[in-house]
This record gives sequence, structure tokens and C-alpha cells, in this order.
Amino acid sequence: MSTQIDHLMNESRKFAPSAEFAAAAVASADLYESANANRDDFWATQARELLHWHTPFEQVLDWSNPPFATWFADGELNVAYNCLDRHVEAGNGDRTALLWEGENGDERQVTYAELTDEVSRVAHVLEDLGISVNDRVAIYLPMIPEAIVAMLAVARIGAVHSVVFGGFSADSLRARIDDAGAKVVITADGGYRKGKVSALKPAVDMALADRGNGVQETVENVLVVRRGGNEVEWQEGRDLWWHDVVPAASAAHTAKAFPAENPLFILYTSGTTGKPKGIVHTSGGYLTQAAFTHRNVFDLKPESDVYWCTADVGWITGHSYVTYGPLANGATQVIYEGTPDSPHPGRWWEIVEKYRVTTLYTAPTAIRSFMKIGRHIPQKFDLSSLRLLGSVGEPINPEAWMWYRSVIGADLAPIVDTWWQTETGAIMISALPGVTETKPGSAQVAVPGVAIEVVNEAGETVANGDGGLLVVTEPWPSMLRGIWGDPDRFVETYWEKFAAQGYYFAGDGARRDEDGDIWLLGRVDDVMNVSGHRLSTAEIESALVAHEATAEAAVVGASDEATGQAVVAFVCIKESHKDVLKDTDALVKNLRTWVGEQIGPIARPRDIYIVTELPKTRSGKIMRRLLRDVAEGREVGDTTTLADTMVMSTIQSKVTGKK
Ligand code: WTA
Repeated sequence: MSTQIDHLMNESRKFAPSAEFAAAAVASADLYESANANRDDFWATQARELLHWHTPFEQVLDWSNPPFATWFADGELNVAYNCLDRHVEAGNGDRTALLWEGENGDERQVTYAELTDEVSRVAHVLEDLGISVNDRVAIYLPMIPEAIVAMLAVARIGAVHSVVFGGFSADSLRARIDDAGAKVVITADGGYRKGKVSALKPAVDMALADRGNGVQETVENVLVVRRGGNEVEWQEGRDLWWHDVVPAASAAHTAKAFPAENPLFILYTSGTTGKPKGIVHTSGGYLTQAAFTHRNVFDLKPESDVYWCTADVGWITGHSYVTYGPLANGATQVIYEGTPDSPHPGRWWEIVEKYRVTTLYTAPTAIRSFMKIGRHIPQKFDLSSLRLLGSVGEPINPEAWMWYRSVIGADLAPIVDTWWQTETGAIMISALPGVTETKPGSAQVAVPGVAIEVVNEAGETVANGDGGLLVVTEPWPSMLRGIWGDPDRFVETYWEKFAAQGYYFAGDGARRDEDGDIWLLGRVDDVMNVSGHRLSTAEIESALVAHEATAEAAVVGASDEATGQAVVAFVCIKESHKDVLKDTDALVKNLRTWVGEQIGPIARPRDIYIVTELPKTRSGKIMRRLLRDVAEGREVGDTTTLADTMVMSTIQSKVTGKK
């Protein structure tokens, strides 16, 4: 971490917005002024201006029972109506909402009018299946228009979606279905990934079969989109083809109003324990901040922009900046099903050229992998339509930022580095394009209406130039309302550390530079960030330990040039299974596959070291800090608190022997 800080300390380049960009910018410095004058009034104004309220609200923030907030609680709205019908009613029904590109070259363009009809039909189908207000629907789909349609259809009838990333395994899906008690699962036969069809339906079948876990089955129906064309098994009575039931349903569906605090979705994310947390977001406040930030941070001109956020709807970025923010704002956006390098390494840039994308929002890990392949690939394409670039998910190192700016943005397009989390629901820290002078590597300033501090362990604000922990000091509209079914964990995880001050603890380290700008320094807890995806060390450890040969396991996140961090595991084998040690290569391969099956391919460790013992303190706590030193090839730090100081040298020789 310290080398990173030193490195960042030396970064002093600044880029002012061009006069031309500034003159036409959506955002203005006035936003800060009005937010500072009265935060609640500011958000109330945004909520009224950006959204349609069936029943206008009088109440803004209720913070009388912290940390449980409500926003606009006496107001009523329909989230799907805000994303669809009202644009059609305003005469924009013919505007393209989605420009979809399948990995295999399939294309579909969907207007706002068509999207409204399709969502209405699916809303009827779900109602016919018995789904109503507050029921949970799991969505496990590839990046196809139906993913967005499904989310909006659930929202339209006041139900709650839980989108599960298509890369998660059957076991992960099952855990999420059970935790939320989903009644319906919406999936596809398969989708295109890396040049071939990757099946999804079998994972759903597995998640719902052989339920020896004592949990009552809640799923009554599975709605299946045909996309991959692959063979699937069918359970009569439970499974329904989307193409059989959706086109037959009526496109006339009245969007009823629901209270602003009606839950909109649950999204599971990794925490510091083995069990993922079901983050709960509600409707009015969430949509207000998603729409506000999407408009101002991405300088949205809905009539002329072609916006492209490369995130999958399985992550929060896909919720707020593919589905809800852009559609609430009437944007035209690109959706791409596949991987960036299928069938060729220039695929993304080909898409930018083809659709004349103006705004690109992606993750540093993608930028770094393009950097590695070389600028000659993007330079083959016409990227002149790009006028704004965004980054999210992990700290962007200044080199990647500069490459993004010069190679992709032609040294003209402003870059917004946006810090936020599944829990915050929407962007919290970012430059405002056209307003803020940007700095490579710094997320910079809280967005208007959001209050951020960097504090020390005692909760005191640090001086400019110093580092500490990132906190949010005031409630914000899109804040998580809790963890599904676990209010205690919600309070403990986010609010206990700075209970005296009433601050939200984000779990990130940060520092302020001499100008007061914020630089994010990565997680300070046992959460890893691999290619912008959150993974928990505890979750991977428990997957490893669930393998019959494993006695004990420790997992650390080691810094990795391409993926930010990489998963590195240290595993001890049971005495009773020591036969497997005869072929460690096979064992390691087997364990990697196992983790992939238990959680999903993204969680597979980059390296697995088979060791005889783990470094532990006298009280039995695994010292991951030392393992991280080994994994990152550093000299091992202070080992004096270890119960057995020899353990580390044995591990070290094992690891270096291997490399
Ligand atoms: C990290 C993704 C530095 C951070 C939207 C946070 C970032 C976690 C940035 C949340 C950024 C996200 N700079 N770090 N611009 N954006 N992070 O829940 O550690 O998947 O806590 O939400 O990603 O990840 P999540």
C-alpha cells in the first residue's frame, strides 16, 4: 500500500475541461451551492424534477431512527413508469432505448414504445404466475434485452428482483434464491460468451434439484428465454418458455403507484464473512440519485448521446447505470452480450465505431487489459464520437487513466472516476464533467448532496495530505436500507465502527491531497477486488474447506497488474487424504475447479499453494498479512506474534520453490 501512496503522491497532472465542453455541460457549479445550502431541499428538488410522482411527497428525509433512513416516504411512484411510459407519453416513444449487440453478431434495436409494451406483457405474465407486491423474483440471464425487461417488469408490479450474475454457479444461485425466498426464476437456455454458448438453465435446474439443505422450496415457476438455442431439460408445470407466454400477453398494463420506500431489489455482494449480504434498495430515493448522477456525471444529452456502460446487470453498476439511471433519463444506450475480445480483440472499439458511442463507462481492469494488448487495436477504429469516459469498480492507476485519456479519448474527452458501492446504490464521489478540473487517479470530490470525509480510527477528519478511512457522514437518497433479513448485520457492518459520529463506514482506505481531493486506496477489510468484482476471502476459504481433502485454507488478495487483485490460496490437506499430495498439480487443478463450481469462475484462485501449516497467532488467528507478503513476493513482515515462527519460512520456501 505504501508504494502505491508514494506513487499517487507524485501525481500532479491536472486537466481542465475545454471551454467548449464546459459551455454545453449539463452540470454546473450551482449544484454544489444549492446542495450545500440545504441538502434535503436539494434532493427534494431533484426528486421532483427528475421523476414523476403519482402521489407527490411532503416528507423528505426521516433520520429519526438511524441508521434506518426513509426518503420521500409519503410519496408514491412507479419505477417502471418513470423509465418507460412517461417517455412515450412525452412523445419520445420512437426514441431508441436499447441498441443490443449479441456476441455472435445478432442485433436488436428497441424503442421506448416497444420496451414499454414488452415490459407490460411480462408484468402480466408475472401477475398471472401469482407474483404481487413484495414477492421476490430471481433473474439469472445473459446481457440480452430481456434482462432489462425482466427487471422493469418486476419493478412495475411492485415486486422485488434479485439479479444473480450469470457467471455464478448453481450453488451460489441456490443460496441467493433461498435467502430471498424467490417465487419465480427468470433465466435463459444459455447465452454467448467467448465464442460459444454458455448454458444457464442447467444451473437453475441444479439449484432447484436435490434440495437436501432442509430449506423449503419457494420457487414455483421458471420462465425461460430462448437465446443460446442449446438443449435444455424441462419440468412440465414449473418451466415456461418466454416466447410462449410473453407475446400472448396484453401490452396494456396500468402501472400502479407504490410507496417510495417499497423495496425495489435485493443484490447480493461479498462481505467479510462467508455469507454474501443481500443489499436492499428501495424505490424513490434510489431512482432519484441514480437518475441525478447519471444525468450530471455523464453529461447526458438524451436526444443526441449514445451511452454505453459495459457492466453486466448482475452487478450494481448494471442496475444503476444500465437499467435504472439511463432509462429514467430517456437515454439511448448500447448493450453488449459478450466478452471484450470475442471474436477479435477490437470488438469493443468496433461497437463504439458502429453505434457512434459518445459516452463509455467501464472498469480499470478492462482498460489495463487493452493497454497490455496495445494501442494499435483501438487505433484501427474510428473513436471520434467519444466525448466522455467513465471509470468504476477499483482505483484507476494514473498510467491507465492517461492511456484511457489519450488512446480512447483522443486527449479531449473528460474522464470521470466514480467511486461508489453496491450499498451506496449510486455514484458518491466523482468529478462533474465540464466543472471539475480532473486529476489522473483521483476520484476527487463528493457529488452534490453527498457528504464524504476521510477520518482516522477515532473518527476525526484527517488533514489534507493525510490518509485514513472513507466515511459518509450524512444519509443519502440511494443508501441501502438494510441487509435482507439481517438488520443486526447491517448495523454492525456499516454503522458500529463510527457509531459515536453516526458515520457510514465504507470499508475503503482513502487520502486527501493538498487540494482536498480524495484518492481511493482499496479495501481495508477482507474483501478483495478482482477485476472490479468484489470477492470475500472468507467466502472462498469456506468453499475450499468444503472440499473433502482440505483441512484448512487461507485466502488473500495479492496485487496483480491485470486484475487489480488476484485470489491466492494456501491450503492444508487432511492427514486422511494425504494420497492426493502425490500429484499436487492435479490437486491444485481440482481445487480451482471446485471453487469455480462452488462460487463461480471469477472466484477461482490464481495460485493455490499446498502447505503443511498456516501462520497463526497464539490465539489461533490466521495472519493473512504475512501470507499476502509471500503472495506478493515481498519480504515477510514481523512474525514475532506467531505461535510457531518457523511456519513462514517453510511456506516461503514452498512458494519460491514453485516459481
Ligand atoms: C471499489 C461497484 C476506487 C471500492 C460500484 C468499493 C472503487 C468497492 C471505485 C465497491 C473507484 C468502486 N475507485 N475504488 N472509482 N469504485 N471501488 O459493491 O473498494 O461492486 O468499496 O460496487 O469497489 O464494489 P461494488
